[in-house]
Amino acid sequence: MTTVGVLGGTGPAGRGVAIRLASAGYDVLLGSRDEERAGVTASTLLPRGEGAIRGATNEAAADCDVIVVATPFDSAVATVKALKSALAGKVVISMVNALAREGKELVPLYPARGSMAAQLAFALPESKIVGAFHHLPASEMEDLDSDLDADVVIFSDDAAARDEVAALVDEMPGLHGVIAGSMSLASAIESFTAVCISINIRHKAHSYVKLAGLKD
Ligand SMILES: NC(=O)c1ccc[n+]([C@@H]2O[C@H](COP(=O)([O-])OP(=O)(O)OC[C@H]3O[C@@H](n4cnc5c(N)ncnc54)[C@H](OP(=O)(O)O)[C@@H]3O)[C@@H](O)[C@H]2O)c1
Repeated sequence: MTTVGVLGGTGPAGRGVAIRLASAGYDVLLGSRDEERAGVTASTLLPRGEGAIRGATNEAAADCDVIVVATPFDSAVATVKALKSALAGKVVISMVNALAREGKELVPLYPARGSMAAQLAFALPESKIVGAFHHLPASEMEDLDSDLDADVVIFSDDAAARDEVAALVDEMPGLHGVIAGSMSLASAIESFTAVCISINIRHKAHSYVKLAGLKD
């Protein structure tokens, strides 16, 4: 069975992805700069299904088959650069959004190369970078009783890698993978997260993206 490592897995985003991956049967290593913190966090997550979540260092998480980057945007590049050789040849999923809080809104920041996914692709030329999970509210992801029924917008320049991630997302309870296209869409997809979160702040909600009119 494919193993999945989550870099920065102790935060809300990483925990939410980890519990739904493990509920789909995957063995997940929750990576952290502090293995003890990761172990404590992993012990609080109770997936339903055959998969398991264990705490680990980010280095150990990077040895998994598929990797999810779930650190804050301003540490994502440094985190993956330090793990470059372990990540070579692998699918690396970026859920990283570059955002800033301004009053009651979140506004998008535009990193060099236009998106965080493109920054990771530049830092990891031998990895297959796929964008996914950007628009999901972490609290709804972590709560397996939340009735989440969300579409996950996926992009990559590597068609096989984005198909692989779409299949993985489809196995996660409450999620459906929708391939949007190439890395050219990364900036728009990441920055749309600012719209999603601003709506949730304004409406005191945990809404998520669900696209109407798709055939499958
Ligand atoms: N929260 C959401 O609803 C959500 C949804 C979709 C996407 N995202 C994206 O997912 C990413 C993580 O979001 P989050 O809310 O979980 O963030 P977070 O709680 O601020 O950070 C996640 C983890 O990253 C690690 N970390 C923090 N500072 C670091 C640094 N300087 N260097 C290396 N690792 C560091 C920490 O783990 P350790 O201290 O254990 O190492 C922390 O628990 C962000 O890029 C965000 O845009 C978030």
